[in-house]
Amino acid sequence: MDTSRIPGFYNMTVQERLEVLSRLHGLQDEDIENLIIDSSLDVGTADKMIENVIGTFELPLGLGLNFLINGKEYVIPMAIEEASVVASASHIAKIVRNAGGFTTESTERVMIGQIQVVGCSDFILAKEEILQNKSVLLEAANNAYPSIVSRGGGAEDLDVRILNEGSDSVYSQMLIIHLYINTCDAMGANMINTMVESIAPLVEEITKGKVYLRILSNYADRCLAKARCVISPELLQTGDFSGEEVRDGVIHAYQFAASDPYRAVTHNKGIMNGIDPIVIATGNDWRAVEAGAHAYAARNGQYSSMTNWFKDENGNLVGELELPMSVGTVGGATRVHPLAKFSLDLLGVKSAKELAEVIVAVGLAQNLGALKALATDGIQKGHMALHSRSVAIAAGATGEMIDIIAQELIKEKQIRVGKAKELVEQYKK
Ligand code: MEV
Repeated sequence: MDTSRIPGFYNMTVQERLEVLSRLHGLQDEDIENLIIDSSLDVGTADKMIENVIGTFELPLGLGLNFLINGKEYVIPMAIEEASVVASASHIAKIVRNAGGFTTESTERVMIGQIQVVGCSDFILAKEEILQNKSVLLEAANNAYPSIVSRGGGAEDLDVRILNEGSDSVYSQMLIIHLYINTCDAMGANMINTMVESIAPLVEEITKGKVYLRILSNYADRCLAKARCVISPELLQTGDFSGEEVRDGVIHAYQFAASDPYRAVTHNKGIMNGIDPIVIATGNDWRAVEAGAHAYAARNGQYSSMTNWFKDENGNLVGELELPMSVGTVGGATRVHPLAKFSLDLLGVKSAKELAEVIVAVGLAQNLGALKALATDGIQKGHMALHSRSVAIAAGATGEMIDIIAQELIKEKQIRVGKAKELVEQYKK
């Protein structure tokens, strides 16, 4: 899309938003049908995706606006049940765009397949033999999945470690082979698992051991994406808080998370609030991304903040987020789920690398949104306004009644379903 700035979008009806999107992005009738009229995922397709299907399960799909990343405009599809997340991401993206936008970078998309070998009579010799047969093993792995080689990827390297060498227990001594596979634009789970399974017999022959596990690692630390933003303090001024106060509050909040796992978990959950909704909306495996992200947050031996916030020599607030980001733009559900296809198209990403970079930029924005609120007014003020609408709906409010009841709950400072039910009854009389 040419712009991610759509002033007043939050105040429009769903119909008006779709009209704007149609103008800016050219929605097809089918897209609109998928978005609002019917279930986006027909039950027949769902039945082919998983087992024992009895229906489909919907989530709200909202748009994160105002994102400027490496000079390009992005509208961010976010599938999430939690109020405030989309609003907060859009609010911070607006501040960051005024500071020049996010910048991002990423590594090559190399994923890891693991093979566990046990029962070798000489583990050191077995390790040497595997290294000597590296090219044979890589060739065998690539022969098992030739299409990735023709796309410019495939198994590129391998290494071997001995775990628990000299241990008394035969169960704990093992040889672990890592196969490094460039998965190009795919997340690559099937490809990786096919490759490691296919070379397992060869590995047994070479090591004279027994192979047990053959599976990808979700700790994708060779598939990293990084986002950065630099914000001058005047852009951070909020209510009675000066920009410098907000900046310092964010840095203090970061230091808390950096030093204390109890805080780091919540801090990082807030980052995943931004990341998971795009991963879900684009049909990617959010459990894989979650697992890898949290492991990366503990890479220095203590679970810590995923982000880093500091003040540069000019007094600007600088934020950085680097995470493993094993997502794809092809394969899996990305091209099966109609709204995943739509989301990728709306994002306008050309590659998995670009998608990964956009995702970490949104994670960084989400973290700043939470820290800025926590270091100033607290999150309840903003949260409650939105939460009150969910409470009103839970109490049976529909249509225009929802906002009326929600506002009354806020006014009376009683955001409870019981109170909302009373108001709904009164409204209906
Ligand atoms: C709520 O979903 C996320 C926050 O708790 C994140 C944080 O505390 O940084 C607000």
